[in-house]
Order: sequence, then structure tokens, then C-alpha cells
Amino acid sequence: MENFRFYVPTDIRFGTNQLAALPEALAPYGKKVLLAYGGGSIKKNGLYDKILELLDQHDFQITELSGIAPNPRIDSVREGIQLIRENQLDVILAVGGGSVIDAAKVIAGGVYYDGDAWDLVVDNSKMGQAVPIVDILTLAATGTEMNRNAVISNPDTNEKLGTSGWELIPKVSFLNPENTFTVSKWQTAAGSADIMSHLFEQYFSRTAGTDVQDEIAEGLLRVVIKNGPVALKTPENYDARANLLWTSTLALNGLVSKGRSGGWTCHPIEHELSAYYDITHGIGLAILTPRWMKFCLDFDPTSHEKFATYARNVWKVDPLLDIETQARKGVELTYNFFKTQMEIPMTLPQVGIKTDELVPEMSRQVLAHNNMQQIYVPMDEEAVERVIRACFEEMTSF
Ligand code: NZQ
Ligand code: ZN
Repeated sequence: MENFRFYVPTDIRFGTNQLAALPEALAPYGKKVLLAYGGGSIKKNGLYDKILELLDQHDFQITELSGIAPNPRIDSVREGIQLIRENQLDVILAVGGGSVIDAAKVIAGGVYYDGDAWDLVVDNSKMGQAVPIVDILTLAATGTEMNRNAVISNPDTNEKLGTSGWELIPKVSFLNPENTFTVSKWQTAAGSADIMSHLFEQYFSRTAGTDVQDEIAEGLLRVVIKNGPVALKTPENYDARANLLWTSTLALNGLVSKGRSGGWTCHPIEHELSAYYDITHGIGLAILTPRWMKFCLDFDPTSHEKFATYARNVWKVDPLLDIETQARKGVELTYNFFKTQMEIPMTLPQVGIKTDELVPEMSRQVLAHNNMQQIYVPMDEEAVERVIRACFEEMTSF
């Protein structure tokens, strides 16, 4: 295990009936609030009204930024920065899924930056001071509620890039599983796949001696495999939603990544799919993941052992099978889980990517934006192309 610093100062308020503490959570930062939200789900499920009533009772002044889209765009960020500057706002209250909170983070940093906010996305070394953020998360997926990362899209350049900053970590995150009851089947499946992918990205690392991180990752994967299908079938099952929500937070708050090195694979590739085709992040990851796993097994026999461990510890694959067979069974079970239990369409044409004409360009962009040599099994442009092309047809061998 490598040396590390683990510093995540977010105050988590988990469970029901926590909203009454919202005024107290915002108050240390000021009374003038930017309320940031998405396309209206919080109005449909009544959360918006509750928040407004509560803040009104406590004399907060609200300025609204609405319409933050999934795969949030830099234009919303620019709009938010302008609203904060014009109205001299003190704090951001972000209410929604990862897209709303990510946009809030770059707004928060952008207020203190003189140039265009897109510079902060392209180069996170420019990220400094930030407006404080309090959030109410409504979808279990990204982990943004307890980390310093944000992912923003620029439709003008077909770019979707991640950035980060220590000052972007939310001050307080309200996690009420009931707020996720209304998440659609599609977004529940996508969120579950996203959580699993975060765990894969960190678990498949070459650093030795990370038993703690590995066991946590395997346990969290089992939690998603158990609770994802339950939430899909019974959306108001509190415990299923609660377990997914807390897993989403723990999967990407540093608990699993600290103490080891290595880069991410499926996320950089998926970000290109989203950048060019605006597909749902978690669905793109579900489609890519088993193809990437098969690529690892086909091209790097040194990966077999870890994939076999994954298969045994997460899927209870028979330890008496030979190592490669165990590993390939793990890939098959992962694919089948997404397809049959989470009801995810498992090819790109099924999510609207009908032709492969942009595959070379997207693969080039993956390499342009990421160091694909430090990942679990290093990939060149041809390897990335191979994985994306495999997503055009159902998988029949593993
Ligand atoms: O916009 P509204 O109307 O709120 O509807 C949203 C949106 O249409 C809806 N939704 C959210 N909560 C709901 C709900 N619908 C009904 N009931 C609720 N309670 O769900 C749709 C998707 O929302 P979005 O915020 O886009 O989903 P998610 O949380 O999956 O966020 C995805 C974004 O996060 C980025 C992704 O790339 C993508 O842009 N990521 C951020 C990360 C981070 N900051 O650490 C890491 C991740 O790997 C990821 O890349
Ligand atoms: Zn993700």
C-alpha cells in the first residue's frame, strides 16, 4: 500500500427527516443562496416546494439557476457564475443528481476565476478558492456529494472533461433515500452501473498490498448487485435505495482509491461517447465494461489472477475452476447482470449510436485527453477502437 492523505470534510446528513437542518447547514456561509437544479424532477416530487418554504421561513434570499442538463454544459456554469456575481450570493444549494452538483462545483470555482470557466475544466491547476456548496442529492450514482471532482461538457468542441479542486468538496450533503424513490428505472440502472464502474476503475490496479481497499470494493460491489435489482422492481423500497445511495458515496470518496495508483479506463472512453452522442453516462459504462474486461483477459494474461479474484469474491465463482475460466465467468456474470437484472440495453446501436463512423475520432480523443499507459492494461488508439467496436454487437463469448 502506498502513502496517502485522506481528507474528506463533507458533513453527511443521511436518512429521513434531515431537511429541517438545512437552514442551519447554510447559515454559516450567508443568507443569499443560489438554488441550482435540473430539468424539474424536484418540482414534480415536491422537494422544491419544501426547500423554498423552509428557506423562506428562515429569511434566506433565493436566486434560482434551473435547467442544468444531464451531462451538464459549460453554458449553465457560465450562467451560474454570472448570477452569483450580479447578486453577490454567498452559498450554492445544489439539488439534484451528479449533473447539478458538478455544475455547482465549477460555478463555485469560476466565481473566483478571471477568465472563462471552461479554462478550469481543461486545466484544474487554475482552480482555487470557491463559493461554499451545500447539496441535496436525489440520485445514487456519481459520488460527487463527497468528492472534489466535476465533469462538464462543451457541446461546441465535443468535449466532456473532468476537473477537480479541494475547495469544491461539498460542505454538507443531505442524503435522503426517499428523495431517490422517483428516479426512473433507466436512471436507477445507470446509477448502479456507474457505482460499479467507479469500483472497477479503482479495484483493477497494480499496487500490491491493498487488502483494505480491495475488500471494501468487493463488498460495495456485492451491495449494488443485491440492491440494484430490488430498487428497479420496487422503487420505494427504502433499504434498497438507502444501500445504493450510501454505496454511491463510499465508492468514490477516496476510501477505495487511496493507497494505490493507476488510471481509469472505461470512464475516459465513456466520456467520449457522451461528448459526441450525449448518452447516459452509466449506460455507456455498462456497455463498455464487459468488453474492456474481455480485452484485458485476451491481451494481458497477467490480469487473469485479479479478475479471477473478482469473480470468486463478488460472484462466488467456483474456486476449483482454472484461473482463466474463473476470470471469464466473472465477465460473463457482469454482462448478464447488466443485461437481465438491470435491464440495460447492452449495445451502442440500442442507445442510438447507429454507425461506427466516429469510432476512430473518439478513440483519438480518448488518447488526447488521458494517459492510457498508466491504466490496468495499457491501451493505444487501436485497443480503444477495438473495445468500442465490440460494443456494436451483443457479447457471445467472454
Ligand atoms: O434534471 P432533473 O429534472 O432533475 O432530472 C434528472 C436527470 O434527467 C433525473 N433525476 C435526478 N434525480 C431524480 C431524477 N428524476 C426523478 N427523481 C429524482 N429523484 O435523472 C436524470 C439524470 O440526472 P444526472 O444528474 O445527469 O445523473 P447522475 O447523477 O448520474 O450524473 C451524471 C453526471 O455525473 C458525471 C457524469 O459524467 C454525468 O455528467 N460524473 C460525475 C462524477 C463526479 N463528479 O465525481 C463521477 C462520475 O463518474 C461521472 O462521470
Ligand atoms: Zn462515473
